[in-house]
Amino acid sequence: MPPRPYVILSCATSADGYLDDASPRRLILSGPADLDRVDEVRAGCDAILVGAQTVRADNPRLLIRDPRRSARRAARGLPPHPARVTVTGTGDLDPAARFFAPGALRLVYCATPALARARARLEDAAVLIDAGDPLSADLMLADLAERGVLRLMVEGGAQLLGAFLARGLADELDLAVAPVFVADPAAPRLNLPCPGPEAPMTLAEVQRVGEVALLRYLLGPGGPDHRFLRWAVELSRLCPPSGSAFSVGAVIVGEQGEVLATGFSREQEDQDHAEEVALRKMGPDPRLRHATLYSSLVPCGARASRPVTCVQHILAAGIPRVVFAWREPRLFTDGEGAEQLRAAGISVTELPALAERARAVNAHLVTGADHQNSVSSRSMPRIRS
Ligand SMILES: NC(=O)c1ccc[n+]([C@@H]2O[C@H](COP(=O)([O-])OP(=O)(O)OC[C@H]3O[C@@H](n4cnc5c(N)ncnc54)[C@H](OP(=O)(O)O)[C@@H]3O)[C@@H](O)[C@H]2O)c1
Repeated sequence: MPPRPYVILSCATSADGYLDDASPRRLILSGPADLDRVDEVRAGCDAILVGAQTVRADNPRLLIRDPRRSARRAARGLPPHPARVTVTGTGDLDPAARFFAPGALRLVYCATPALARARARLEDAAVLIDAGDPLSADLMLADLAERGVLRLMVEGGAQLLGAFLARGLADELDLAVAPVFVADPAAPRLNLPCPGPEAPMTLAEVQRVGEVALLRYLLGPGGPDHRFLRWAVELSRLCPPSGSAFSVGAVIVGEQGEVLATGFSREQEDQDHAEEVALRKMGPDPRLRHATLYSSLVPCGARASRPVTCVQHILAAGIPRVVFAWREPRLFTDGEGAEQLRAAGISVTELPALAERARAVNAHLVTGADHQNSVSSRSMPRIRS
């Protein structure tokens, strides 16, 4: 069973937390710059999920707007648009809605009692899936994972976002706060019981995007180390594909928990390693002396493509702490990155619970036998490109 998808909750609210006003007309809270940002996030996902009420009220298209992004997906062997997904307990969906238009795969997760009604209404408009009685979000996520959905974007509305948060099923919340008040108790609102003050989210990013303030929070089990590392693993999915080099993501986090830089393999140049890119983006910076570097793969201690290894880059930058998920299989290198770092006095934390996620991104490089080598054999010294 593949791990459940990485779940990004994404929404725009007014400054007082409303997702819409109470009028029948849809309130667009994002400006052009934020809509473009959302388009980029969509392009990096395998599926977009909205609640049935959002399908009914907003009639969203849920397509990638910028053709260059669709082309980029196609070049990576992905469909031009992510799959559209919705959930319904009643089956009350209109097959003429834009959700059911051609252009992307349509999946409808339906509570068992409403299946017959949904089938009669939607016929060939979508793939209908029995999601249990009561409808189970866990079942839906497991089914999406089996269908190859590794990254899921949940775009509302309030009930669906609340359900994911309450059940601890979200890894990230991208909250765009618009400079307006709605102040209408009849309007849908982000009014969620979880996470409460006893389990706060991890604030990873604050950014001005046009007129909205984007707050990116990380959630999920394990506290900040696990959350930042999960994010690094997700970044590795953005790497330009390669048949001969690993796809790795890296995040550098400052002393106060602020994200200083991110990077992924081949992000700027063909031979780039993720840690190298993140460090290059920062240049010499005194904050690195108190920072933690999160990497989906252990930093390389030997390398063929360039003279300086990632271990050497980390030591030169003065980073005191490294957290990684996956030990490098003996596929391309015999470099003992973790051991070299420890020997140099760096605090190194390995979180093997996330190793399978990091490995899955590189599954095309690592056969079962090679995986075996990563944990048991020391007999295949080769150099990572
Ligand atoms: N600002 C934003 O970013 C944003 C984004 C999206 C939506 N919105 C707004 O949000 C509003 C809609 O939000 P909403 O909370 O009313 O609705 P919603 O979350 O979009 O959809 C709720 C519906 O989804 C189905 N559903 C969700 N969870 C379920 C579960 N566990 N079991 C069974 N069915 C489940 C049910 O459909 P059935 O009724 O068919 O059973 C339920 O009525 C709209 O005003 C829209 O404009 C805003």
